[in-house]
Amino acid sequence: MQTILITGGAGFIGSHLTRLFVTKYPDYKIVNLDALTYAGNLMNLKDIEDSSNYTFEKGDITVAEFVNSLFLKYAFTGVLHCAAESHVDRSITDPLAFVRTNVIGTVNLLQAAKNSWKDQMEGKIFYHISTDEVYGSLGEEGFFTEETAYDPRSPYSASKASSDHFVRAYHHTYKLPVKLSNCSNNYGPFHFPEKLIPLCIHNILNKKPLPIYGKGENVRDWLFVVDHVRAIDTIFHNGKFGETYNIGGHNEWTNIALVKELCKQMDEKLGREPGESAALITYVKDRAGHDLRYAIDATKLKDELGWLPSLQFEEGLSKTIDWYLSNQDWLNNVTSGSYQNYYDHQYNKR
Ligand code: NAD
Ligand code: DAU
Repeated sequence: MQTILITGGAGFIGSHLTRLFVTKYPDYKIVNLDALTYAGNLMNLKDIEDSSNYTFEKGDITVAEFVNSLFLKYAFTGVLHCAAESHVDRSITDPLAFVRTNVIGTVNLLQAAKNSWKDQMEGKIFYHISTDEVYGSLGEEGFFTEETAYDPRSPYSASKASSDHFVRAYHHTYKLPVKLSNCSNNYGPFHFPEKLIPLCIHNILNKKPLPIYGKGENVRDWLFVVDHVRAIDTIFHNGKFGETYNIGGHNEWTNIALVKELCKQMDEKLGREPGESAALITYVKDRAGHDLRYAIDATKLKDELGWLPSLQFEEGLSKTIDWYLSNQDWLNNVTSGSYQNYYDHQYNKR
């Protein structure tokens, strides 16, 4: 019997991860701990919220006493740590929020796991979910491997790099049984519309400008979120302790090419004239310190654990657009802010 703490399970990736573990492992007890910041939305989990092996706990990982009390209450055997401040632009305006959640919050969890597991580390797992942005920015060639030196360049990536270092330090110093993965850009359902793809889907629907930072030449390596959580499942169960696995799609797009593909597909789906949505493209001031290119070499994960992405990008993008078109209530609730009432409605009535 495993009792697994998923942090940040009401966010984009965390909700897909929670759904996968709750449905695939009915014998595991899954506890989702989330502070429900602006990025946390319990509507993302509506289909599984009544499952008998699922529990939600509202709380903040920056509060050590609270984190410790949860370890006492549930005696977790595993942790899947997803909670974070995740948006680079927000980190540029408020770096300390990223230090608090991504660094201090992670150390609180490590400390609670260390104390709770001190007499028996065997059979326990602390899995830390991280990003390719810790490796910095590539030129036109090359890929990030697990050996690439860290070179974070935004407050977001610096806070994630710091958290990665703490996780490895707890393994080295206290023998905490950790695993880590660093993934490229995700996309798919439930993606908060402050990030490039859902923001553009929302703006195309509403015929609003599509803001492209700088010249749109920055490159990202996009992976369908369901493939990311499949990889996490594989590493959680079969990966080696103390090791890091890079996860990526081998799927590089410049921002401008990606947004043009999105416009083309949405014109077709919405019955608009070809070129109608692309006319909304608007070049705006570049992001400060904007990393040029990210690209992951996921050979280790393929060779050691047999993981490969399941979807081609055009197909994944088409599925994603279809999801947003069929779930415009979700989009409207998120953009209007009304999703933030859902917790009171759902939990305070019980
Ligand atoms: P997200 O912003 O959608 O969700 C983050 C979740 O964490 C939210 O539910 C939020 O309420 C919760 N949270 C934030 N601060 C908290 C706190 N102090 N205490 C408890 N909960 C808190 O993020 P995401 O895009 O799903 O990313 C999840 C993880 O994956 C992050 O660690 C991120 O660094 C990493 N990652 C993301 C991507 C990507 O493309 N989105 C790629 C690679 C890695
Ligand atoms: O690489 C993994 C990372 O991917 C994750 O660790 C982060 O949590 C996640 O937010 C994402 O970071 P990015 O900064 O790459 O994602 P974002 O969607 O914000 O931006 C993607 C690219 O598009 C980037 O080059 C900036 C650009 N962009 C973004 C926005 C929001 C625009 O041109 N216009 C925009 O309005």
